[in-house]
Amino acid sequence: GERALEQLRVDYLGKKGQLTDLLKGLGRLPADQRPAAGETINETKRQIQAAIEARRELLVEQSLAAQLAAERVDVSLPGRRQAAGGLHPVSRTVERIRSLFQSAGYSVAEGPEIEDDYHNFEALNIPGHHPARAMHDTFYIADAIVAAGANNADALAAGATDASGAGESGSGGSAVGNGMSWVLRTHTSPVQVRVMEQGKPPFRMICPGRVYRCDSDLTHTPMFHQVEGLLIDEEVSFADLKGTLEEFLRAFFEADLAVRFRPSYFPFTEPSAEVDMSCVMCSGKGCRVCKHTGWLEVLGCGMVHPKVLESSGIDSKRYRGFAFGMGVERLAMLRYGVNDLRLFFENDLKFLRQFN
Ligand code: PHE
Repeated sequence: GERALEQLRVDYLGKKGQLTDLLKGLGRLPADQRPAAGETINETKRQIQAAIEARRELLVEQSLAAQLAAERVDVSLPGRRQAAGGLHPVSRTVERIRSLFQSAGYSVAEGPEIEDDYHNFEALNIPGHHPARAMHDTFYIADAIVAAGANNADALAAGATDASGAGESGSGGSAVGNGMSWVLRTHTSPVQVRVMEQGKPPFRMICPGRVYRCDSDLTHTPMFHQVEGLLIDEEVSFADLKGTLEEFLRAFFEADLAVRFRPSYFPFTEPSAEVDMSCVMCSGKGCRVCKHTGWLEVLGCGMVHPKVLESSGIDSKRYRGFAFGMGVERLAMLRYGVNDLRLFFENDLKFLRQFN
């Protein structure tokens, strides 16, 4: 190998090699013989050098050939293409809800995720002392953070230290705060108020978006998605609400579902109802998913409370309408048969790929 060859070179041509010794010995020869002997020694040295060089080249060639044989490239293999991404099941579900309502003439509205207390609660007939606030597990935000803008890291750090009690009062002097305190919206219902404040009736809109609640267990994540719906006009009845939601649920699940409306309570609708549909897993026979009742609770709704209309600048004598709110993850789980809510937020490709 190359090691043995190098050893040979050292033995013959190196500083202490045999030819070097011979050259050193030249001095002991009679002067007239020295040129011829020197010439012979140098010629021998050149020959040995050439032989070693030739051998070295051969060895390098051989090892290169061996390497190429080992890592052969199969040029006939197909190329590696960039895999196209797919929509997340939550986005897919929002898209499905959106397209069904858009085909019924609804427009799509948006609202802020950092919401003021007034729009998230007050204007929706949920005053400060109202027990419904406790149900909402609200994330409160310090005024300083909102005033500085959420992407100012310094202010975020500073704000975090005086966040205590921000939920109760809010600071009167803050330029942005306006005496209000700020929350991560706990539902999409504040967008009802914003849409009505900014426009003129009739209204027919949905609002999909992220909402936040300080809650985390098997069936709750601190962030989840809702789709709000609002229809306001001169002649709107609870029958319109029932028909709309029944049609929507049957279209969404592509099934001839039974749908029932149970009396319920929301401060911003009157009357209010909780909507159940027959269980898609067992067709109403009773199973673990529906807790053996045959029914699944899927959304909340009602006729918009006159107080909400009035605080949004709508004449409640002339206009009325309905609103509803649905949980996107809940609908996605039921449509796709997903049994653990947390799977939506773990970003496991093995799970996500199944939806493409
Ligand atoms: N905002 C309610 C919730 O999050 C749902 C709802 C919306 C109820 C609209 C009635 C009307 O629970």
